[in-house]
Amino acid sequence: MKLKKLVSVLLVAACVFSLAACGSKDDSKDSGDSKKDSKDTLVMATNAEFPPYEFHEGDDVVGIDADIARAIGEEMGMEVKIEDMAFDSIIPAVTSGKADFGAAGMTVTEDRKKNVDFTDTYATATQVIIVKEGSDIAGPDDLTGKKIGVQLGTTGDIYADDIEDAEVERYNKGFEAVQALTQDKIDAVVIDGEPAKEFVAEADGLKILDEAFTEEEYAIAVAKDNDDLLKKMNEALASLKESGKIDEIVAKYISADKAE
Ligand code: ARG
Repeated sequence: MKLKKLVSVLLVAACVFSLAACGSKDDSKDSGDSKKDSKDTLVMATNAEFPPYEFHEGDDVVGIDADIARAIGEEMGMEVKIEDMAFDSIIPAVTSGKADFGAAGMTVTEDRKKNVDFTDTYATATQVIIVKEGSDIAGPDDLTGKKIGVQLGTTGDIYADDIEDAEVERYNKGFEAVQALTQDKIDAVVIDGEPAKEFVAEADGLKILDEAFTEEEYAIAVAKDNDDLLKKMNEALASLKESGKIDEIVAKYISADKAE
């Protein structure tokens, strides 16, 4: 009799315990990472300091990547929610599952491929050098021993770091590097060609050197174990390329004379 009682007490205790455990698990599912759990929304990580690919317009993040991502979402029947963050937080957000994908004019590199998968590429780009008008820097070779500004964690940062005796100044935003250049705090900025054009147009007395640094390709980053999403995004990208929608989006933000 006593033993029976003990067993039933233990059973009740076990039930209560497991219910509580279940309950708390359910709670965490609801209040926790709901972004990831809700199947009709894809969370995009970006750094909206990179016109014309992503930038702020009022409270919204707009630009080529934002439009392409929304068009991909439409093809997949999903909403896209954009999270703005530091550029070097994008890959960690994707690998940790905080975001479903990263779209940020992100160059495909072998190093990044160790941590994330990339979709097919959707744009080609170059790294260019911005200097003050009248600067003695005329090409990449003249950067030896100079003070070079870059956006932290970008490919511009990686290239500048490889230049002999150069001092690399890393800024959170590309535009801050350009401002530092106008203030003579640095000698040059290495950055992607399209934002370079936008930044130079907004500042006085700067120019982009004709000789580009490198050719690169942009793609969307997805977590390594997310083959299903990668496949669906590639299918959506392919159909958007074929229908001319990607070209249409690019043309909306980059006018033909600006692209020259
Ligand atoms: N293409 C360069 C890279 O991948 C710079 C990208 C910066 N993008 C941004 N949204 N801030 O490193």
